[in-house]
Amino acid sequence: MDFQLTEEQLAVQAAAREFAQTELLPGVIERDEHQKFPAEQVKKMGELGFLGMMVDPKYGGGGMDTVSYVLAMEEISKVDASASVVMSVNNSLVCWGLEHFGTEEQKQKYLTKLATGEIIGAFCLSEPEAGSDATSQRTTAEDKGDYYLLNGTKNWITNGSTASVYLVIAQTYPEKGHRGINALIVERGMEGFEVGLKENKLGIRGSDTHSLMFTDVKVPKENRIGEDGFGFKFAMQTLAGGRIGIAAQALGIASGAMELALKYSKERKAFGVEIAKHQAIQFKLADMATNIEAARLLCLQAAYDKDTHQDYGKSGAMAKLFASKVAMETTVEAVQVHGGYGFVKEYHVERLMRDAKITQIYEGTSEIQKIVISRELLK
Ligand code: CAA
Ligand code: FAD
Repeated sequence: MDFQLTEEQLAVQAAAREFAQTELLPGVIERDEHQKFPAEQVKKMGELGFLGMMVDPKYGGGGMDTVSYVLAMEEISKVDASASVVMSVNNSLVCWGLEHFGTEEQKQKYLTKLATGEIIGAFCLSEPEAGSDATSQRTTAEDKGDYYLLNGTKNWITNGSTASVYLVIAQTYPEKGHRGINALIVERGMEGFEVGLKENKLGIRGSDTHSLMFTDVKVPKENRIGEDGFGFKFAMQTLAGGRIGIAAQALGIASGAMELALKYSKERKAFGVEIAKHQAIQFKLADMATNIEAARLLCLQAAYDKDTHQDYGKSGAMAKLFASKVAMETTVEAVQVHGGYGFVKEYHVERLMRDAKITQIYEGTSEIQKIVISRELLK
């Protein structure tokens, strides 16, 4: 068993840390406060290769492994989880989905631009009445011969107003249930496609989350991903890898909060000594560090499983379930270590605490991860 990172992985980690500290940290509080999408920063992420990290270089990607992706996600999420969710959706849902299941024409037309960050993508599964219960798709994609007629509403879509390409899951044959669902590539600007209002959120406030409305949108047949009726499996297989990205996001939020708590505990004095000299604070730090290390190992295990072509559905779900819990617990404790200062925006930990919560909800709630894990155990 080898716990050593390669030189290439260490270089990616260092580059992501540098980018996060120099480009994301300045302005992160203001972007959160004003719900401002990190447009310039996302553009730079594309230029640095963070938006198509695992894509084959022949399609403009970095050709890196999932371990490198996890390391980069952790560093970027330490500072700005709103930026890292853009990265996660683009890398592990949109690019991965297209690279693994798209046609050569789809890859040339869309993936090459998505992998370089020239455009960004969105993944559209959730609906007002189909979140965890994802097979209950109400959005319809009626087969009209050479095109699909798309009607319905998607909810909570990350990159909702900034994406150019949307992977939309919709029901074509209701009588076939989940086996009648298709995944379609929808372009921004197609007639009948409208972006709804932006959600005003508790956390990841820099990320643009929107509902999307489709009214008689004509989507050419060549924009279907995979065989007729493959859409639900497409979504599930893509999400299995996506969950590793969100696990790494949760890990980064936790480790970012811990770094801040550690630093503050050595600076702040109470009762004549640094608060780090009080055992109550030391024990909090010890618990944080232990939980974070365990979360990191689960994330790396899932990434390793994916890189070595082993099944990663269970390990990815475990990583997300555990890391998101650690993110919540660690950020709450990091606020506590900061006392009253932790409750105000300048010290960053209150934002990390708010951002942590979403990691227990999206890409499958914690309850859904337990369903995925237990089904694998009982198989
Ligand atoms: N890979 C391939 N196929 C899979 C699969 C996987 N990992 N998981 C399930 N399937 C297949 C099953 O084999 C089954 O097909 P067959 O009947 O042909 O065998 C089909 O999918 C339906 O599976 P289930 O019977 O298990 O379906 P279910 O109704 O019990 O639901 C579920 C399963 C795991 C709960 C699923 O609905 C689910 O994952 N829900 C959560 C949805 C989710 O994660 N949404 C995230 C949206 S994206 C997002 O959130 C992005 C973001 O925030 C940034
Ligand atoms: P529900 O499914 O209604 O769940 C409500 C509660 O019931 C939860 O606690 C849930 O765990 C529990 N529950 C439901 N079913 C069961 C069960 N069988 N057993 C036990 N407990 C259960 N979706 C996309 O498709 N693309 C995106 O880009 C995207 N981005 C998002 C960004 C944000 C900020 C948010 C908030 C959501 C985003 N989502 C996205 C949607 C997200 O994936 C869903 O919110 C999530 O899957 C939960 O669905 P729901 O909100 O409908 O909750």
